[in-house]
Amino acid sequence: MCGIVGYVGQDDAWPIIYEGLKRLEYRGYDSAGIAVVDDTGALHFRKTVGKVSGLDASILGAAPRGSLGLGHTRWATHGAPSHANAHPHTDCSSRVALVHNGIVENYLELKRRLTASGHVFQSETDTEALSHLVEEGLSLGLSFEEAFLRMGRMVKGSSAITATLQGEDGPICALRLGYAGGIVVAHHEGQGIVASDLPALLPVLEHGSGTPSVGFLEGGEMAVVSRDGVRYFDLDGNAIVKQPRRVSRDDVLVDKGGYRHFMLKEIMDQPQAMTAALRDRADFANGRVELPGFPLPPSAIGALERVVLIGCGTSLHAAQVGRHYIERLAGIPAEAESASEFRYRDPLIGPRTLVVSIGQSGETADTVAAMHLAREKGATLLTICNAEESQAARIADGALYMRAGLEVGVASTKTFISSLTILHLLAIYLGHARGRLDDAATRRLVDELSRGPGLISDLLGEADSYRDLAYRIGHYGNFLFLGRGASAAIAAEGALKLKEISYIHAEGYPAGEMKHGPIALIDPGMCTVALAPNDVLRDKTLSNIKEVKARHGVVVAVLTDGDDEAASEVDYPLFIPEAPELLQPILTTVPLQLLSYHIALMLGCDVDQPRNLAKSVTVE
Ligand code: M6R
Repeated sequence: MCGIVGYVGQDDAWPIIYEGLKRLEYRGYDSAGIAVVDDTGALHFRKTVGKVSGLDASILGAAPRGSLGLGHTRWATHGAPSHANAHPHTDCSSRVALVHNGIVENYLELKRRLTASGHVFQSETDTEALSHLVEEGLSLGLSFEEAFLRMGRMVKGSSAITATLQGEDGPICALRLGYAGGIVVAHHEGQGIVASDLPALLPVLEHGSGTPSVGFLEGGEMAVVSRDGVRYFDLDGNAIVKQPRRVSRDDVLVDKGGYRHFMLKEIMDQPQAMTAALRDRADFANGRVELPGFPLPPSAIGALERVVLIGCGTSLHAAQVGRHYIERLAGIPAEAESASEFRYRDPLIGPRTLVVSIGQSGETADTVAAMHLAREKGATLLTICNAEESQAARIADGALYMRAGLEVGVASTKTFISSLTILHLLAIYLGHARGRLDDAATRRLVDELSRGPGLISDLLGEADSYRDLAYRIGHYGNFLFLGRGASAAIAAEGALKLKEISYIHAEGYPAGEMKHGPIALIDPGMCTVALAPNDVLRDKTLSNIKEVKARHGVVVAVLTDGDDEAASEVDYPLFIPEAPELLQPILTTVPLQLLSYHIALMLGCDVDQPRNLAKSVTVE
């Protein structure tokens, strides 16, 4: 959460930082700001409440010019989105510019002490204490680098912090504390750039040749970036050597591909996302699953006693579907739990437990903390994540990457499909290794999976038809999503999608639970979306649909093609193609995504950047 960009080089810093912030806006968009050091060495600050576009030079009038600066796009934690609380923050003498992503857990204690010694604060943020701490270090006679490092040693909590100083040479100092908030550092043809994520590097890449080498800061590491290069240190000030990594243009490209929104593009990309997740893993010719990256040898799989799947938000819903896959195909007791709950329990896991963390970003603070807990308890740790340079990938014993490409829309779509695909593969792999699935059963399941991308494409061919339905039902103020078995998790995902991008109240419920309470809500003003594809639970869900209709509720139902009986019971039937049962969670997801998208669009909501949210939640 929050995006950071810092630049030092020969070019005008403002447009590079501005472009970089635009590319990081998915991390937060409550306010934004840029500070630039001009040719005389003076610092200039510009801030806006709301999105980064408020910093567009054409809106601002003349933007300050200089070849050193830093910027920030904020997801508010301490203090409302306001001009005063927007980053960069400074000190009493406006010598320092500092931006921050994370939470300073001891900021009140620091603020009290600094205030008592005469520092005057301008904002309600935890961050401002950091710039005053740097100022304090400078007034003790420390160099900027030393003062920055001293500040870093005084801070509690997980944070990414970047700062620069008045005077034309910088440098830019960047520090990562704990495991929240990534920092990537690149140096390319006399230009240094620091950013929260790779896409912010594109403006520098575009003007240079070749690809830069980049360094990813670990917790407790600092980078000092100048025109001459990058130096790395630990928190004690000892120089450290980091292996630079090459990144390609594809790693940094962010492009809507002609679609109106990233979310729509990402929905339409789902056949390719599923294909990429299957590549080199599903051996269609031989009817087998291979999982390079799985952390246990086949001989150890038989000894597993439990699988615990953890994640947050959409990734939690993927975990819930994964639980069904693993119990059904691998015959291993499995459970799915919110990482934010798991991390605060004392879960009974040990060496015979496989913990599977799921996450698009691999940086979600609760998921990363839950992984650390699982590590302490000796479980084998597998991560399914999209971001290959993430914390999750580094902590886990093994990783199965989604390979979905960058997902920019704050609402997760294609990475959900990727997660389900990989969980399905994992369940087949475990089932075969444990002898629960023989070769023939494995071949049949692999053949079924091969149909997935084509079936999703068929559904997407009808994508526009959801617009009409959105106009018919988008005015309902309350939605209840119902499903049974794996469809209960898809119902929860459907409700999450709708509420996060359209701000309509929506609940996802196991259909069998409806009669234990939610049925009291049913009236003509409540729209129920029921998932009743052709599976063993279809008749049960159909009974629930009838219960809703008997109480004059409006029903949209996701059914299997040709199910005229169920269609005649509901107001608005939606159809998925006839498909093997274990592919149905993937297919029933797509109509719910498209419906939410079109309802949000109809209501004039900001589909890609819904209010109050951020793409990666790196605070607890
Ligand atoms: O990066 P992660 O998958 O760990 O993120 C978890 C949630 O924050 C995320 O799924 C969130 O719920 C999405 N906005 C849902 O669309």
